[in-house]
Amino acid sequence: MKGSNTIKLQIANMDKVYDNGDGVRDISLDVYNGELVTMLGPSGCGKTTILRTIGGFLTIDKGDITIDGKSIANLPPEKRPTAMVFQSYNLWPHMSIYENLAFGLKLRKIPKDEIARRIEAMLEMVKMTGSQKKYPNQLSGGQQQRIAIARSLLLQPEVLLLDEPFSALDAKIRMQMREELKKIQSELGITIVFVTHDQEEAMAISHRIVVMNKGKFEQIGTPTEIYDNPASKYVASFIGEMNFWKQGENLTAVRPENVKIIPGFQDAAINGTIRTIMILGHYVDVNIQCGEEVIKSFIPRTELTALDVGDKVHVEFGKSNVFSQDGSAV
Ligand SMILES: Nc1ncnc2c1ncn2[C@@H]1O[C@H](COP(=O)(O)OP(=O)(O)OP(=O)(O)O)[C@@H](O)[C@H]1O
Ligand SMILES: [Mg+2]
Repeated sequence: MKGSNTIKLQIANMDKVYDNGDGVRDISLDVYNGELVTMLGPSGCGKTTILRTIGGFLTIDKGDITIDGKSIANLPPEKRPTAMVFQSYNLWPHMSIYENLAFGLKLRKIPKDEIARRIEAMLEMVKMTGSQKKYPNQLSGGQQQRIAIARSLLLQPEVLLLDEPFSALDAKIRMQMREELKKIQSELGITIVFVTHDQEEAMAISHRIVVMNKGKFEQIGTPTEIYDNPASKYVASFIGEMNFWKQGENLTAVRPENVKIIPGFQDAAINGTIRTIMILGHYVDVNIQCGEEVIKSFIPRTELTALDVGDKVHVEFGKSNVFSQDGSAV
């Protein structure tokens, strides 16, 4: 299920600045009911800061944060309808998985048999059936994060906050966890704000992505919008692979899959020599030395037979975007 048209979470003109001047400024974002929105940006750009202001672990300096239209900005974390999962160290090591999961439900005075029933159903959802009696140190990193997500989901939050929950896991498990999170999210229709610095992860799981740069939002859009029409040179270079080619005052940006390679030099075209050919599964990564610059092209394997390292070729750009010197889209 995609996000609906009702706003679940709203951040309005919010500032959170630390004493040293770091932080985030003038942040505004609407997250719709059932939507998964990802904050994406390099280390230090302010992703965790924003997530903590939503969860109530940081107080804001300016603006407001509302859920279902009601301000939560002055509520302590436990009074907010949110739950947060951190990058690591989420579970209480001295408690069994059952005790970890039951803790929040006991505080809410939910009857014992009801707690056991809910935990069993939730463990099934996160594919951890039968792990009640184990302790966190008997589980792998991926399994622990599943339990951490299960624990926050058991609290039935209106908004789930996930701060790089998979970043400590190896690539294969991470992919698997992404798929599972997507499935759980569409089954429960829960609203999620997800944080990552991994652009591929953001593209894979999000309804919309917020690309951040130094405490500010550069662009908010669907993965397709951001990939196809980056609003700035910064976004263009942060998401996916991109060639930049100087043309007059401006920079033309072309994705490698939109660079066509044609054998032989041609007047008035961009000419070059094939430097490397790397077969990456179903597609091939070809680097072409064009004067001082290297242009990268992705071609299907079937087109490779005509090309070899050292070949003189020219390239044609398909779909492209143009940016001015200050990095804004032209
Ligand atoms: N408690 C704090 N006191 C002062 N500065 C802080 C504090 N926490 C974070 N910062 C600074 O605020 C900026 C944003 O930090 P934040 O943790 O939100 O970044 P992030 O995008 O989550 O980075 P990462 O990807 O490394 O987790 C950084 O420059 C950081 O050094
Ligand atoms: Mg962080």
